[in-house]
Amino acid sequence: MIKVNLGGCSSFVKDADYSKYVGKALDAFDVLQNESGAGNDFLGWKTLPVDVTEDIISGCEAVRDSWKAKGINLVIVIGIGGSYLGAKCALEALSHSFVRPADQPQVVFAGNNLSEEYLAELMDLAKTSNVAVIVISKSGTTTEPAVAFRIFKEYVEATYGKAEAAERIVAITDASRGALKTLSNQEGYKTFVVPDNVGGRYSVLTPVGLLPIAVAGFDIRAMLAGAAEEREALMVKSADNAAVQYAAMRNLLHLENGKSTEILVTYNPKLTFLAEWWKQLYGESEGKDLKGIFPASVANTADLHSMGQFIQEGSRIMFETVVSVEKSNRSVVIGTDEQNLDQLNYLAGQHVNHCNAMAQLGTKLAHIDGGVPQMEVSIESINEKNLGAIFYFFEFACGVSAYVLGVNPFNQPGVEAYKKNMFALLEKPGYEEQTKAIKARI
Ligand code: PA5
Repeated sequence: MIKVNLGGCSSFVKDADYSKYVGKALDAFDVLQNESGAGNDFLGWKTLPVDVTEDIISGCEAVRDSWKAKGINLVIVIGIGGSYLGAKCALEALSHSFVRPADQPQVVFAGNNLSEEYLAELMDLAKTSNVAVIVISKSGTTTEPAVAFRIFKEYVEATYGKAEAAERIVAITDASRGALKTLSNQEGYKTFVVPDNVGGRYSVLTPVGLLPIAVAGFDIRAMLAGAAEEREALMVKSADNAAVQYAAMRNLLHLENGKSTEILVTYNPKLTFLAEWWKQLYGESEGKDLKGIFPASVANTADLHSMGQFIQEGSRIMFETVVSVEKSNRSVVIGTDEQNLDQLNYLAGQHVNHCNAMAQLGTKLAHIDGGVPQMEVSIESINEKNLGAIFYFFEFACGVSAYVLGVNPFNQPGVEAYKKNMFALLEKPGYEEQTKAIKARI
């Protein structure tokens, strides 16, 4: 279960103000639970941990097994935004940082950028591998994944033949609409559905996240069980509800203390992409109507040697939310050195994780002294179950928090602006007027 510790904020806020914001968060909790708020047709994610059917779970496992039987050793997952970050986060967190088990495929991502070098280098890897592709797009029309898919579809068909390509390509998209659905029907691809009522950034517990995670060899049943357990805890309307506490404090720090930036802080490189996933979730859900807390992140202790200076002494715009991991899954103990030239013998016999914990605590105290409030969101250790819990926790807290702020957490009208300009500049048919207008500006 996720625990929230607000101790590092107590010197910055008054008890009465916190109580007021807990009241607002409890009202927002009701709006989310009664499904009476803005965007309430996108609340399918709330029950995913208990709604995902056995058919979906075993369907993901069946793809994993059939690709294993074909000896596939490279799976290219194509998607962007919510169709990418959840799976990427889980794989970064759960995989060995350096060694891949011989019986697991390498899972890599494409379609999340338009870099020609990236695609060319991925093609180099594909040419020395046995390849399958998962293409994910809810709308089925997003440009970045469509470009990458066109390239790798062509490669897979040319390499393995059209019939075999259909066994090696799985699409995750809308149940009935969009170009990817039409193509999948035509080509006979196996498809999984992104439910209509689940937006991209809330979709990690649909096949969007579950299939790549299962194919990489991780336990999606445990992940769903962890999310379900967390859901049960968060369904209780109370001032002790972890999501209510987090939503109340971040809105209080923002709206009453003028903090415009929240930094998600991690102390394990495996969690760097948890921060990326979280930034999308909160940035896209809250940053609208000229409102919102800017979501940023640092990966410590590395960033203590770069961003640490700004956080300690720069403009006082931020508060921190530290994702704290209580236990390390591995053990490395610091040895004794006879010469002790590095003067580290005082640490002999200590676990490296103890040093990390002391760095975390020392930083907390220093940042509080420097005027940076700090919250902690804790998990016991990094595994599928706790990752499921933290996904659900941040999603639910995001819904509550955005309703406290007074915005629709489930739309993203602002992402269209760049697309219109890009299509006009690329001279997409139908954009002739915009092309003329934009060319006059440049
Ligand atoms: O959260 C969102 O809705 C977005 O980030 C989408 O996931 C992203 O734009 C990709 O969209 P699609 O899955 O339709 O290709």
